[in-house]
Amino acid sequence: MEHLSEILKILDGALKANASMASNYAGLLADKLELDGSSRQARMIRERLARAPAALASAQDASGGVNFGSLPVDGESHLHTVDVSYPVIGDDPLLLPSAIQQRVDEFLVNVRRYDDLAKAGAAMPSRLLTYGLPGTGKTKLARAVAADLGMPLLTVRCDTLVSSLLGQTSRNLRRVFEYSQQRPCVLFLDEFDALAGARGNERDVGELQRVVISLLQNIDSLSDNTILVAATNHDQLLDPAIWRRFGFRIPMPKPDARLRKLLWNQFLYPLKPEGIDLTDLVIASDGITGANIEQVCLDAKRTAVLANASEIDEIQLYRRLGLALALTGSVMLSTIEAEIQWLRHWDSKRFSLRNLAKIYGLSLRSVTNILKEETNSGREETAGTGGTA
Ligand SMILES: Nc1ncnc2c1ncn2[C@@H]1O[C@H](COP(=O)(O)OP(=O)(O)O)[C@@H](O)[C@H]1O
Ligand SMILES: [Mg+2]
Repeated sequence: MEHLSEILKILDGALKANASMASNYAGLLADKLELDGSSRQARMIRERLARAPAALASAQDASGGVNFGSLPVDGESHLHTVDVSYPVIGDDPLLLPSAIQQRVDEFLVNVRRYDDLAKAGAAMPSRLLTYGLPGTGKTKLARAVAADLGMPLLTVRCDTLVSSLLGQTSRNLRRVFEYSQQRPCVLFLDEFDALAGARGNERDVGELQRVVISLLQNIDSLSDNTILVAATNHDQLLDPAIWRRFGFRIPMPKPDARLRKLLWNQFLYPLKPEGIDLTDLVIASDGITGANIEQVCLDAKRTAVLANASEIDEIQLYRRLGLALALTGSVMLSTIEAEIQWLRHWDSKRFSLRNLAKIYGLSLRSVTNILKEETNSGREETAGTGGTA
């Protein structure tokens, strides 16, 4: 039977007294019938929709006449638990290593060709779990998936879903899942470990177990073609039963050399220093994330614009990179002196006395003193620890 999935959704909407779900899917069914050349049937459906109660009709939004009812809120804080957005593929797309890109593409094909695959019994539930360090592009992946499918993105920050009130978390979860059923969309559970943390954690085991169980129930009650994306920085915290619910699991690694080159190019644009050797930059930036590269470039761009320069100054760029590397290595640089000393150690050739003096607006003599100070204090420390107390 054609269009069975829409008909089932309309039925679900009716049975659950979820009028916007029923009417949204009826609208989609009409569109599909129209495309198939059955305009008479499409018109019959639309005429019925037009007679829907006024409240429902007025909730229709501009995007294709389908709507989301009012957003779910947390009973305790009264804050919205879901954010609806309509991502488009922008100027700075998500860049991925080829093998990872291939897995994302497999997921997208599974979604697009779901009905065909299902007929052959070869469909996987459209559920994707992405995991990796902060700043590796997981949230951006969810946006890219929604943009690629041309669907709205329903983002749920799972940490805000967790309520201090007993039982409220499960209620929040149920509302979010019900809400996502109203129309085709990508339901995105961000900071997923806040909910899906392993059962049997030390603190408040009972409540956590209930949340994980209710999460499992909610996932299981979704139809297999509902698109669910979850992201976590802590995959090792996830409950194994939750892990198993996601057929597509995509790790987000730190960018390798090839990818770093693409990222530098993307984020330096349009103020890229002419003649900069990207190979050097790629080597120097080993170990940092895409978010770090973006931030370094943004900072360097700001400096350039404020100095009325037409492009980023190369040494400023390396300075920002050096500071970012210090941060990723948990080195705190709280003074200018500490910055200068750090940069000098990191790359003494690039950060010559002259360059350091120039970028910090100091005299050569001051820079020499700052570097000397460090050597002296280093010696004192050694002397201190060696002394007999
Ligand atoms: N692989 C990548 N391709 C393009 N941009 C990236 C990539 N990785 C990180 N970024 C940039 O870093 C920023 C943070 O990415 P985000 O998706 O929020 O990371 P995460 O959710 O993993 O913490 C984004 O603004 C994005 O532009
Ligand atoms: Mg994120």
